[in-house]
Amino acid sequence: KLALLFAAVGKGTNWLSQRNEGDNIDLFGPLGNGFTVNPSAKNLVVVAGGIGIAPLRFLADEVVRQGRKVTLLMGTGSAVQLLPEGSSSQGLLTDGVLPWGITIHKCTDDGSDGYKGLVTDLITNHVDRADQIFACGPLPMYKTMSRMPELKNKPVQVSLEVRMGCGLGICYACTIKTGQGLRQVCKDGPVFDLSDVRWDDISC
Ligand code: FES
Repeated sequence: KLALLFAAVGKGTNWLSQRNEGDNIDLFGPLGNGFTVNPSAKNLVVVAGGIGIAPLRFLADEVVRQGRKVTLLMGTGSAVQLLPEGSSSQGLLTDGVLPWGITIHKCTDDGSDGYKGLVTDLITNHVDRADQIFACGPLPMYKTMSRMPELKNKPVQVSLEVRMGCGLGICYACTIKTGQGLRQVCKDGPVFDLSDVRWDDISC
């Protein structure tokens, strides 16, 4: 079984939004890397901006089952875009809802649910007890995080989304600058250490 969470914002995702249950689609993967959880990390903070909740929801599923504590900071434009909270009766792996047993802090741009503002505003209050931080969201969110002094000495992994062509490290459309030199998001990422990416050289 496969679940896809996406926003219909371009040609490809609009096409995908018009598929029906039972239709056949071609899939190409798995590609690139994933999040790496330190075996000794007990308290994880997960920062989701918009559609970035998709991979983090599955990360949370996995680490909660391993007995780790997860604090999810989830921000969207408005309440209708927030992934609903799960319940104990649904168990962990239930489609379309957040895993049961995690601590959730919500925020929305319009204030229709939770804190009114950006998800990065919530980070400061939760950094101290975090052994590791994982994030997925838009580039401006990462740029803000890269400038936060409280994150400077924390292990923070971010999953990047940039325009891609081949997905195989051939076309170089997804090249970014890192402390290790040029890297392809499709092949070397999409997960990078926050402190390793040269954010000023990436345009939003
Ligand atoms: Fe072609 Fe990454 S998408 S190199």
